[in-house]
Amino acid sequence: MAFTLAPNSEVTTHRSMRQFSSLWTSKVLFVKCSSLPKRALLGAFSFVLCFALIGMALTAPAIAAEKVALSVDASKTGAKIDRNIFGQFAEHLGHGIYEGIWVGPDSAIPNTRGIRNDVVAALKALRVPNVRWPGGCFADEYHWRKGIGPADRRVVSLNPNWGGVTEPNTFGTHEFMDFLDQIGADAYVSINVGSGTPREAAEWLEYLTTDQPTTLGKERTANGHPGPYEVGYLGIGNESWDCGGNMTPDYYVSQLKIYSRFVRNFNPEQQDKQQMLKIAVGPGGDGPRWTDWTEAIMKAYQQHTWSWDINGLSMHSYTAGQWPPSYTSVGFGETEYSQILKFTLQMEDLISKHSAIMDKYDPQKKVALVVDEWGAWYAPSPGSNPGFLVQQNSQRDAILAALNLNIFARHAERVRMANIAQMINVLQAMILTDKEKMVMTPTYYVFKMYVPFQDATFVPVSLDAGAYTHGDIKLPRVDAIAAKDKAGKLWLAITNLDPNQPVEIEASLTGITARSAVGETLTAPKVDSVNTFDAPNTVVPKPASTKIQGGRLALKLEPKSVTVVSVEQ
Ligand code: AHR
Repeated sequence: MAFTLAPNSEVTTHRSMRQFSSLWTSKVLFVKCSSLPKRALLGAFSFVLCFALIGMALTAPAIAAEKVALSVDASKTGAKIDRNIFGQFAEHLGHGIYEGIWVGPDSAIPNTRGIRNDVVAALKALRVPNVRWPGGCFADEYHWRKGIGPADRRVVSLNPNWGGVTEPNTFGTHEFMDFLDQIGADAYVSINVGSGTPREAAEWLEYLTTDQPTTLGKERTANGHPGPYEVGYLGIGNESWDCGGNMTPDYYVSQLKIYSRFVRNFNPEQQDKQQMLKIAVGPGGDGPRWTDWTEAIMKAYQQHTWSWDINGLSMHSYTAGQWPPSYTSVGFGETEYSQILKFTLQMEDLISKHSAIMDKYDPQKKVALVVDEWGAWYAPSPGSNPGFLVQQNSQRDAILAALNLNIFARHAERVRMANIAQMINVLQAMILTDKEKMVMTPTYYVFKMYVPFQDATFVPVSLDAGAYTHGDIKLPRVDAIAAKDKAGKLWLAITNLDPNQPVEIEASLTGITARSAVGETLTAPKVDSVNTFDAPNTVVPKPASTKIQGGRLALKLEPKSVTVVSVEQ
């Protein structure tokens, strides 16, 4: 369950432009010219025309596939890519929980104890490692007692953060744990530090985890769960610098110490190996406000005594481009595609910056950097409640997801958990639902294709990535990671960012004897192609074009594609 420490990893990514001439095009033209019937040629003029065309082809800019050389030495392994970086986030927000997960036991939509069967089946295929709940900003206004007990006696409250709608509390503690059980994920519970008390949070954890016949333990039993629940991760507040109470770093540190001390996990199974890991609120950007925040928490951590501890520092970073988010999630072109990808690649610098601060205070990397809110945040879909954060999910988001997962993998030593925002119907979702209908998004398919990277061992990739340029934006043409799974099989994930040109990868593989390779690729007709309820298969993975020749892997990448390949030895 717990995220782990990892050994040193080596990343050798070199990016440089590589251009290839259009020899192939000129060859075709030459054959066509010489095979034209003589009589059809209008004498010397035709010959001149043909050879002029050949000349033009030789000097024309490259239009064929770009070639990118890549090398992987499978004997050089790095850190474990913790499966928790594929974590999800499900907040009481819009239709994320209600309708997305919970339809209630009396619904005509097929469900198990109120939880949608179609959604559970889709999520099981992702092997979701953990789910962060109940927020987000919602967490700091959530009072757990409203969400337990007989359904018809649950308190109806408000959700002022997200549309000001009523919160029926029909999806509470037991329903969340049942949902996790059904999809096979661990619990990442965010406790209320903003408007709650240490006592309230401590009692929630006692209710969840004690196996003793305390009043709270008996109440849990009476509510249908005699055994203690496992809570893998505890989030101590959410964005306490803003919606979580606009605290100063020092004020938050004093709260952190109290909550870390008193909010205990009593589950006997979690006293030794499976200990609950405590995650403190961390930064939300890269300016001085955020670096000061990281400094303050990590400095306090360095000086911590036996009475309190943390195992993770949260970081939130959305790809919005501007605030308030105004990029549209569909109906955009190459300009917005390249801009958003440029913004999302800033995740690399953000992680490097905060990791460097963490290294100062925690050189042994005991505290994980937990990117527990990330993903694209666009303008609300027209006609939707702006407080519900509804947006479509396109091929651009598939590329964005792959680039971020690659960044997390390259920082696997420090980044040992991440949670995309959010799981269903909110922001960069895996799944969209509309009453009984459900559709998987391009982002869903990236997470599915990346399943083999869960807990795999990072293998450094050396790469001449080339460049994809649009206007004044210059991005790496290709991004790639590699890893070895527990069975020793080598996996590569390669993204072609260029929306116009295919790429031919020639990968030299050392440290293994490559015999065959298979893979899947995810591309789409347009950068803003989406899956809809009426056309759910516009963006779905297809077999990738792979070949092993002389121990080298040849791979053709479609424009704007994500490809995952396994190499058989
Ligand atoms: O994911 C939506 C919101 O974004 C979360 O509630 C909050 O933590 C963040 O600002």
